[in-house]
Amino acid sequence: MTKKILVYGQQVVQGKIPISGAKNAALPLLAASILSEDGLTLNNVPPLSDIRTMLVLLGTLGIEHSVSNLNSFSMSLNCKTDAISNFEAPYDIVKQMRASILVLGPLLARFGQCKVSLPGGCAIGVRPIDLHLKGLQALGATIELKDGYVYAQAKRGLKGTEFTFPIVTVTGTENLLMAAALADGETVLKNAAREPEIKDLASCLIKMGAKISGHGTSEIRIKGVSRLHYTDHTVLLDRIEAGTYAIAAGITNGQVDLIGHSIKDLLPTFIKKMEEIGLMFEDINGGLRVTSSGKLNGTKITTEPFPGFPTDLQAQTMSLLCVASGKSLINETIWENRFMHVAELIRMGASISVTGARATIIGKHQLVGAPVMATDLRASSSLILAGLVAKGNTIVDRVYHLDRGYCAMEEKFGNCGVKIERI
Ligand code: EPU
Repeated sequence: MTKKILVYGQQVVQGKIPISGAKNAALPLLAASILSEDGLTLNNVPPLSDIRTMLVLLGTLGIEHSVSNLNSFSMSLNCKTDAISNFEAPYDIVKQMRASILVLGPLLARFGQCKVSLPGGCAIGVRPIDLHLKGLQALGATIELKDGYVYAQAKRGLKGTEFTFPIVTVTGTENLLMAAALADGETVLKNAAREPEIKDLASCLIKMGAKISGHGTSEIRIKGVSRLHYTDHTVLLDRIEAGTYAIAAGITNGQVDLIGHSIKDLLPTFIKKMEEIGLMFEDINGGLRVTSSGKLNGTKITTEPFPGFPTDLQAQTMSLLCVASGKSLINETIWENRFMHVAELIRMGASISVTGARATIIGKHQLVGAPVMATDLRASSSLILAGLVAKGNTIVDRVYHLDRGYCAMEEKFGNCGVKIERI
């Protein structure tokens, strides 16, 4: 198995990049298939290792799937959900992918019981699920934590409730949204996440027969129904992938046409910040053109829940700021340990210091290629971006992180005249 990516330095990105479906939309949508016995078809699913992990998990529950229209950027999946016979998400799978927790709400809502391994922390933070559990308890579930597992029960079904999230949680909102869709009565979720992926999940649930309003705002209302039915749904495009390639154009002084609709609406604060830094955006037929102005300036960034600046583009933006003029500040407010890429960027000559959740970056004229280590998904893309502009070659180790969230990066870059290769 290949484990490293060789990035040739001082390249210029010039061309078109089709944006794939969003991993973080496809994962909850796959979990939502559990809610109905009629099955679900999803189109524009990105062929990624995290999606394969979710399919393995669904397989252990008794969900069979078939794949069609497969290419390196996309696939369609049909899930057959009428023979679910196991309600356990085992540790071996959950430890590979935290988003496995998304089966908790749907299993409990449809079958009144489940056993899901506690996910534990990961490279970017402790990542508790206490709010998923509190929300489900508010819906009437009994929760017990034993031997590293969540045992959840709702023998007489879930009951609509009002629940206020003390902090915004994306998968927490998704879990409660799915659970409430089959609860008895109305549920109101306050301080809910407003991420586009939540809106996409709600749209699919509505097509399945759910009664949901307010999705995309911080107050979501769900009137529970007794059953949901078959539908097909096309997965929203990946705003984080789009943002990563926009930065690739910016950092290499190039130009890229991101192919996909409404990309601007998915990245409001990111685009504003990129304009401040020196990238130019222009609507084109079927997409968004991103051009580097040739002069990059430092800025201040604070990561926040949507519509704020996405934490999932923080590492990539840091690479860009490493070669922008002057001083920049990044305040990471979502994850307590999401600066693991800093040490690697410093190995490439970057000038960055970190105090707590704040990083100060002093822009440099030139980074230099080096062997570096990817520590998580977004860190891996930030190192590839830095490698593209560096003098000399960069070898990024542990690229299995990359394969969790970016499909066919070599091919997409290759179509823009940029060479990165697996070694
Ligand atoms: N939190 C709690 N308790 C909870 C849930 C969350 O304290 O019960 C805290 C977390 O520790 C964190 C904050 O709330 O400090 C926000 O976490 P959130 O629950 O929103 O994160 P998530 O749902 O686990 C999703 C994405 C992440 C993305 C975050 C923030 C998926 C599958 N994952 O995670 O994506 O960073 O939202 O936008 O949707 C990635 O794709 O690289 C990635 C890490």
